[in-house]
Amino acid sequence: MSAPTFDAFRYAHEHWDEVAWLSQNTNHIGPAGIVQEALAEAVRARHYEGYPFAPGTPELRALVLRDLGFPDDAGLQISAGGTEALYMLTRALLAPGDEVIASDPSYLIIHRFVELAGARSRNLEIYAPPYRLTAERVRDAISPTTRMILLIDPLNPLGSGYPAEEVRAIAEIAHDHHLTLLNDVTYRDFADRPTLAATFAPEETLTVWSVSKNCGLAGLRLGGLAGRPDLVRKVARFNTNDLGVNVLAQAAATAALRTKPEWIGELRRQVRANQERIRAVVQEVPGAHLPVFPSQANMFCIDIAETGVGPEALQREMLVTDRVFIRAGSYLSPRFGERFVRVSFSNPPGDIERFARSFPRAVAALRTGSTVRG
Ligand SMILES: Cc1ncc(COP(=O)(O)O)c(C=O)c1O
Repeated sequence: MSAPTFDAFRYAHEHWDEVAWLSQNTNHIGPAGIVQEALAEAVRARHYEGYPFAPGTPELRALVLRDLGFPDDAGLQISAGGTEALYMLTRALLAPGDEVIASDPSYLIIHRFVELAGARSRNLEIYAPPYRLTAERVRDAISPTTRMILLIDPLNPLGSGYPAEEVRAIAEIAHDHHLTLLNDVTYRDFADRPTLAATFAPEETLTVWSVSKNCGLAGLRLGGLAGRPDLVRKVARFNTNDLGVNVLAQAAATAALRTKPEWIGELRRQVRANQERIRAVVQEVPGAHLPVFPSQANMFCIDIAETGVGPEALQREMLVTDRVFIRAGSYLSPRFGERFVRVSFSNPPGDIERFARSFPRAVAALRTGSTVRG
């Protein structure tokens, strides 16, 4: 009988309280107090007993549009995380035989949704400078079957961000070729100068947003998409959450967005300090390096190809021995996944110090075959 494969997520969830969660780009800094208070109040008032107002509360809707800088009459669909919006969008706008221009590495769940719609993604390899798409490569990749461009900015897992001029050039391509531009801005708040594609191609762009990472609400599942009202309506035909999105999630997101100017600066500062610290640690490990630094998101890749250690083995060793959970690259790249691990760093400094001890120890132990588990 072959040995059962190791289920890292099961293991991490079984040891939830002991784990430093550097694996899913989740935000463990905050605004924790503000969210806890809003949740406590919504629970005290027993808001969970009734169904939500299906489109989302007017205050939440207004806050989301204001946060994106969109006009009050923009189309807006609130969903259970950005994930649900991504599913609806691909389902509604793609047909068998269609092609989506995307990248490798990427957030591959979107590519899976593309395939579920019968379409296929054309993954341009970006594991080399500038570690993102360029307008020139996007233009060259367009074929008669191209329907959509996937622009994740900043990009998971590399942490690369798009300069405004590149966003403009890609938006112009979408406009000129009548392509939908899927602008996934999940990590926008961690970037120095984020630029929304909708600024340049408002007709073609659907902006997928989320409060999972910026507001630290991944477990509550709230996000959505915004854009041209008729296009959003077309996508929302595939909304299965007809009775609306979790009321507690809406209360938490409303409180977080209402107060964002008070806490976002400190979150960003801590995330920057954390990535500096991780860089210093990686520099001391022979064979390891960061393809992208500084990251414009709350994660980046650590290339370990020259260490002689495999990403899966490293993920397991750090998790089981030190309870530090990072992510092996195979989940994010069919072509380059064996080269890197991804680490996220919107965490308290204590978690980063645990990484700082675990990463060099685990690489050295795996190299010499002297892991704690043998
Ligand atoms: C690029 C990107 N888009 C969307 C999501 C989905 O986020 P959520 O469904 O939690 O809003 C993620 C999650 O990691 C992501 O990395």
